[in-house]
Amino acid sequence: MSEEESVCEDLTRVPAPEKRENPELAGVSVVMNRWKGRTALVTGASAGIGAVIAKELVRHGMKVVGCARNVEKIQQLAEECKKADCAGSLIPMKCDLTNPEEIQSMFSAIKQQLKGVDVCINNAGLANAEPLLTGKTSGWKNMLDVNILALSICTREAYQSMKERGVDDGHIINLNSICGHYVLNMPDAHFYTGTKYAVTALTDGLRQELRGAKTHIKATCISPGVVETEFASRLFKDSPDKAAALYSQYKPLQAIDISNAIIYALSAPPHVQVGDMVIWPVEQDAV
Ligand SMILES: NC(=O)c1ccc[n+]([C@@H]2O[C@H](COP(=O)([O-])OP(=O)(O)OC[C@H]3O[C@@H](n4cnc5c(N)ncnc54)[C@H](OP(=O)(O)O)[C@@H]3O)[C@@H](O)[C@H]2O)c1
Repeated sequence: MSEEESVCEDLTRVPAPEKRENPELAGVSVVMNRWKGRTALVTGASAGIGAVIAKELVRHGMKVVGCARNVEKIQQLAEECKKADCAGSLIPMKCDLTNPEEIQSMFSAIKQQLKGVDVCINNAGLANAEPLLTGKTSGWKNMLDVNILALSICTREAYQSMKERGVDDGHIINLNSICGHYVLNMPDAHFYTGTKYAVTALTDGLRQELRGAKTHIKATCISPGVVETEFASRLFKDSPDKAAALYSQYKPLQAIDISNAIIYALSAPPHVQVGDMVIWPVEQDAV
């Protein structure tokens, strides 16, 4: 197998239509065809879950705008997709989501270059190890800015973009967490937990507003347990051992597992709206 084929193989856990052998999954791919040529925004596409979902959507033929601060990493992904002859394309955009003006400029650029957004995946998110009793205000603000405010701005702008183009079948997907549903006894993650509880409320509120607006645009959140990404090394930037420990106690989820869940939500029939998917590593302790 050539290097290019192996890149595409990596991206084919849910096989593209022509490679599909499992008839049970056939529906997924057939329905994903309806997103071919349409535009998705994936925030936080430079690493972890965002990088994998961006590549998956490109493989399914979408035009994907991937944004993050480290845009060169997305440029590299875009090159890989091109070489692997994926059906869609990845358009890297540099955006610091803590800056609302940069988010507005990104949406203007999307409008100019691609007309607008049909799918918005609010994936970017982070935890800083700042407990409630001792944490720094700046660390809390950073989590608020990215996990809540940027997610809400992108949601509003994506909805407005769909509305002005008469798009009635769009989809907004928020990366939540089991921390959006349970308070784990983990002081380093308590403020983060607060932001993810907000994501639960914001997704349910969004679904109600979309209903109120009589649209068929869907709102979904995906709530994973531990996923092996850069998340832990960013959370425990000063203690790599702690970061490594998080992924070595049991087999964690992989980014592709979450990406497959997102593909499932996107491929559900028009009358089916996935509200929330809570996904645990089998060996992670329940709370
Ligand atoms: N990993 C887990 O165990 C886990 C579990 C449950 C939920 N989640 C959620 O899943 C989502 C993705 O996390 P991940 O595990 O893939 O984390 P990751 O590997 O650390 O990736 C985080 C992404 O967010 C982007 N980001 C962070 N701050 C940003 C900013 N100011 N502006 C623009 N982009 C920013 C990063 O890009 P740059 O640094 O290049 O800007 C990166 O692309 C998050 O919402 C997280 O809360 C993760």
